[in-house]
Amino acid sequence: MPPDKSTTKVMVTGSKGQLGTDLLLRLESLKNIETIGIDIHNADITNRTVVLELFDQVLPDIVIHGAAYTAVDKAESEPELAYKINAIGTRNIVEGCSRYNSHLVYVSTDYVFDGTSHVPYLEWDRPNPLSVYGKSKLAGELELRPGDTIARTSWVCGQFGSNMVKTVLGLKDGTNELKFVDDQHGCPTFTSDLAIKLIELGLNKVPGRFHVTNQNPTTWYDFVKEIMKVAGADESRVVPIKTVDLNPPRPAPRPMNSVLKNSALKMMGIELLPDWHDTLVEVIKKLS
Ligand SMILES: NC(=O)c1ccc[n+]([C@@H]2O[C@H](COP(=O)([O-])OP(=O)(O)OC[C@H]3O[C@@H](n4cnc5c(N)ncnc54)[C@H](OP(=O)(O)O)[C@@H]3O)[C@@H](O)[C@H]2O)c1
Repeated sequence: MPPDKSTTKVMVTGSKGQLGTDLLLRLESLKNIETIGIDIHNADITNRTVVLELFDQVLPDIVIHGAAYTAVDKAESEPELAYKINAIGTRNIVEGCSRYNSHLVYVSTDYVFDGTSHVPYLEWDRPNPLSVYGKSKLAGELELRPGDTIARTSWVCGQFGSNMVKTVLGLKDGTNELKFVDDQHGCPTFTSDLAIKLIELGLNKVPGRFHVTNQNPTTWYDFVKEIMKVAGADESRVVPIKTVDLNPPRPAPRPMNSVLKNSALKMMGIELLPDWHDTLVEVIKKLS
């Protein structure tokens, strides 16, 4: 049978991850979209032959590439694996996309910046990653073609996978102090909002580099307090500390300021993601 031209084939890598799960849910609710979820269990993106065979079979119109090595601290002790997945894996996906003229949306990170800026980062600011994870994700960005989409996001949370909201909900009924840093600044971003924007950018094949986060910068301390408050828990248990006082210190350095200004979306007249407070309420309702 000839292929149905009215159907757009969207391949999602990292489909079992926290973002990938929400991407699949959103895509499957859309009409005229065929969704193909790929994760390490059905295709290891570091294997070029496997990736190219996959593209030969699927012939995707659009690829949303969320698969990544995301263990930020562990990456410091296994840099080769982080680069293999985030840079070579992305190179293989780009090669597949080039063969079949597929549009690629690459999900990148605030960790490409060193965090020394006193103002939010623009899409055109010079990256200077501090950690192996940040360097390997930037290496992935460098594999892309001019027409692809780069969507940098930050502090990703959601209903699926492990993330700060789920960690705090797991701790909310105790009595001990919960110590969180109040000197790292960023924007929590919910996978349900992010997925919608990535799909929009992908389906419209919008090229270029975008910062895509929920609105309203905060600190981890304030974010955790808000999670406790929305969950009806005792927010006075949350105590501010400084990054230098973390015991033990984290192996990977974090950018102190990783607020991403969503300038390119705004300048192109593309609607921004909502304030994270609004989505936090919805996500906590779903998780409770
Ligand atoms: N989490 C954050 O705070 C954050 C912030 C900024 C940007 N991002 C970016 O957002 C994207 C999605 O993040 P996430 O939090 O949803 O990550 P995640 O939950 O760790 O999902 C990543 C997925 O990629 C899969 N994967 C790993 N290695 C692979 C390989 N060699 N071949 C195929 N699949 C592989 C993982 O499988 P396994 O679990 O089996 O390894 C996992 O299902 C990533 O590109 C990440 O860099 C995340």
